Amino acid sequence: MESTLSPELTEHLEAARARASAATSNEDLRAIDRDYAGKGGVVAGLLAAIPTLPPEERRDAGQGANRLKQAIAALLDERRAELEADAIAEARTGKGFDPSLSIPAPARGSLHPVTSVTRELEDIFTSMGYKVLDGPEVELDSYNFERLNIPADHPARDMHDTFWCEVTGAERDSRMDLLLRTHTSCVQVRAMEELAPPFRVVVPGRVFRQESVDASHEHTFHQMEGLVVAEGLTVGHLIGAMKTFLREVFRREIEVRLRPGYFPFVEPGFELDARCPFCPKPGAGCKVCKHTSWVELCPCGMVHPAVLAKSGIDNEKYTGFAFGLGLSRLVMLRYQIDDIRHLMGGDQRFLSQF
Ligand code: DAH
Repeated sequence: MESTLSPELTEHLEAARARASAATSNEDLRAIDRDYAGKGGVVAGLLAAIPTLPPEERRDAGQGANRLKQAIAALLDERRAELEADAIAEARTGKGFDPSLSIPAPARGSLHPVTSVTRELEDIFTSMGYKVLDGPEVELDSYNFERLNIPADHPARDMHDTFWCEVTGAERDSRMDLLLRTHTSCVQVRAMEELAPPFRVVVPGRVFRQESVDASHEHTFHQMEGLVVAEGLTVGHLIGAMKTFLREVFRREIEVRLRPGYFPFVEPGFELDARCPFCPKPGAGCKVCKHTSWVELCPCGMVHPAVLAKSGIDNEKYTGFAFGLGLSRLVMLRYQIDDIRHLMGGDQRFLSQF
């Protein structure tokens, strides 16, 4: 191609080649490109001069200018590739390494919303003097039901559609009926066994129920159990603890109310509601509280004396209160998630929003 260039064009090409071999950066190469192929550059000048030429020379002159442009583009590409190869070779030697260069931020993981809320609540309860406990997810019938005042034939068992574990062969022992815990209340029994009163504990964790799954029911969800045992505890202490907890979460005073509720392991048992913290003005009503201005916070109550006794705690001396926060529900309220299935679904499109 170059051989067909006129002497004048060959001269331009050689001048460009000399500059390109002296170039040490992409910036240098871009400058050469501008000088030859850019607006007001050499090629543009040649093209602009065409109308002044005799008609029979115009065609050759036009083609020549275009060939020069292509030839320069080709030699700049070649030189760019050489410079890149040099840069890579130099980087390998470690010379010319610039630690101050910014690099694109790597994609980062983040905490699952259930984990963030659990940690936040753990911090709050720890600051209130509670210990955080853990318990097994595969649990004995006796901890999940019997010792919480729910014997085998008790109708309350119907509220918990239970996943039973099959234990076969020599291991089989009817006193060892195993299940996936249906609530975190079973860890109340473990706490009473292991700790001497007075004590305060919270137990976050996964629980399992054989539910038909829909937007508000999951077979696997999260709860946070609370249990306090000490001398002289009353319903007043339970309300006080819940109000302190709410004040810590929402950084202001939140009104609460108790409604009667039945759970075999507490007496009296309650449903505790909180004045909806999401309403624009307290009591105004909003979508979250379905315009009632109250949201159900947790079932709770005074530990049944029989439950204390079953775990060897002197129920003449000690009383206790317990509460069962629906952790999954709190996460949904906090992030306005309208379908519980998102929480355990593992969908990256959902998770990457947190
Ligand atoms: N464990 C109960 C459930 O999952 C909830 C519950 C009710 C927990 C009353 C408590 C309580 O600690 O006092 O249905």
